[in-house]
Amino acid sequence: MNILILGSGGREHSIACAVKQNPKCRTLFVAPGNAGISEIAACVPVDINNPDAVVHLAKEKSIDFVIIGPEMPLAKGVSDYLRHAGFCVFGPSAAAAKLETSKHFAKKICRSAGVPTANFDYFNQTHTAKYFLQDKSPPFVIKADGLAGGKGVTVAHDHKTAEEAIEAAFCFGAADDKSGLLIEEFLPGEEASFFVLCDGENTLPIGTAQDHKRVGDGDRGPNTGGMGAFSPATSITPDVEEKVLRKIIQPTISELRRQGITYQGVLYAGLMINEDDVHLVEYNVRFGDPEAQVLMFRLGGQILDLLLLAASHQLKNAQVHWADDHAISVVLANRGYPLSFSPGSVIRGLDTLPRSRQAICFHAGTAKRGEEVVAVGGRVLNATARAATLKEAHALAYGLIDSIDWPEGFCRRDIGRRALATQS
Ligand code: AMP
Ligand code: GLY
Repeated sequence: MNILILGSGGREHSIACAVKQNPKCRTLFVAPGNAGISEIAACVPVDINNPDAVVHLAKEKSIDFVIIGPEMPLAKGVSDYLRHAGFCVFGPSAAAAKLETSKHFAKKICRSAGVPTANFDYFNQTHTAKYFLQDKSPPFVIKADGLAGGKGVTVAHDHKTAEEAIEAAFCFGAADDKSGLLIEEFLPGEEASFFVLCDGENTLPIGTAQDHKRVGDGDRGPNTGGMGAFSPATSITPDVEEKVLRKIIQPTISELRRQGITYQGVLYAGLMINEDDVHLVEYNVRFGDPEAQVLMFRLGGQILDLLLLAASHQLKNAQVHWADDHAISVVLANRGYPLSFSPGSVIRGLDTLPRSRQAICFHAGTAKRGEEVVAVGGRVLNATARAATLKEAHALAYGLIDSIDWPEGFCRRDIGRRALATQS
């Protein structure tokens, strides 16, 4: 098959590596890709948020299957255009992607479906939102309605921070030009990510992971896209998994169908787990980044078969074959991320790193400059390892990090530490 993956992050590098392991993959294209991806696939510089440009590329390269990585092309209807043009594509329609692109839409679906999630109120004016908080006590959770590049959520522990967040929330233009905000009840607990493939009707759990969203050790500093992840998530026990499928995933898919919306792709449920109680924090309509890196590394080549089954409405009776292993991915980011950073610094030592079924360094914000690899994004490399225990995987991943010569880079040193402490 000729396969096209859309995206340029570590998520897409990990999907590309796994897809390449499947003998069904004959030629692999990635648009636009990055320096690491260019070593295993043909990278094509196309604007992936432009549906016509993507359809044109798919026709030109005689593509048999398209896998969409990030949320923005989904929000722009790229999967609808491709399907309309007759292509087999993995990724939800723009209508289904509203589960991520409009938090208000997602909350209304959850409310109709009876999904356990934080109570919320919606506001489209600053002063009514501020007035609402006057006689309430913090913490408050303020969320911009539309896509905000990971900057749309503030957990405010006082009224002043909440009011600033309300002002800021109205600055984020929503994907469909709506603009408003939600004020949510604060949910205490342990966060975890749960991934399910959906073919419109049937669902298949595809793994769990735990991300580390804050930039600094000990969960300090501002929120980021994610600084490291491990899989499986220790907090998602078989009992929690059963509850998530029965109380969260299945009612959501059914409610969407009732409203005439078919969900086909991966559904990523961000969960808050508090002892036996589980709530949905939010939905994303794509694989997480860096969660995909650990999932793909554990799953390997079978992922292509599973994505094809999801895209062609054949997930019923599909099975995932899991090794009894653990994986961890540590993000190496550009100094100053997530606030500001300078692109262009040279990364050395990458060609001496091992690349095996045990350890690999996925590329995210990298580009080639002549023979050199340079950092061009905020999150730049993902040192990823898998082993029989989380402890061994942890040692392997940090071993990779310590072999990379990039003075401008930094990482969290405590990825997976809490889970390791509870295991020993
Ligand atoms: P989101 O973009 O909705 O995942 O929110 C970003 C982060 O804010 C989440 O990963 C949580 O850490 C936190 N968060 C969001 N909603 C809530 C909530 N209702 N209660 C507690 N924390 C939340
Ligand atoms: N790592 C969080 C996300 O992909 O949204």
